[in-house]
Amino acid sequence: MYMYICVCKAVTNSQILTAIENGACTRRQLTQCFGLGKDCGKCNKDVIALLEQTVAPVQPLVAAITAVLTYINT
Ligand code: FES
Repeated sequence: MYMYICVCKAVTNSQILTAIENGACTRRQLTQCFGLGKDCGKCNKDVIALLEQTVAPVQPLVAAITAVLTYINT
């Protein structure tokens, strides 16, 4: 289900999730992509919540894979 996260910029949760899937992993990057939070700022907490739900759970896995790849390449 699509829902507007940023009404000021007309950005939906689907657009934000697609950007996260394509590598955006910080609020700053999402702000650069869509202009989120630059007008009224009411979307900031929802953007951060989406990032925490989507990016935070995989960060330990990314760190582990990066460590293994670094070990293999040394
Ligand atoms: S709702 Fe995102 S800047 Fe206003």
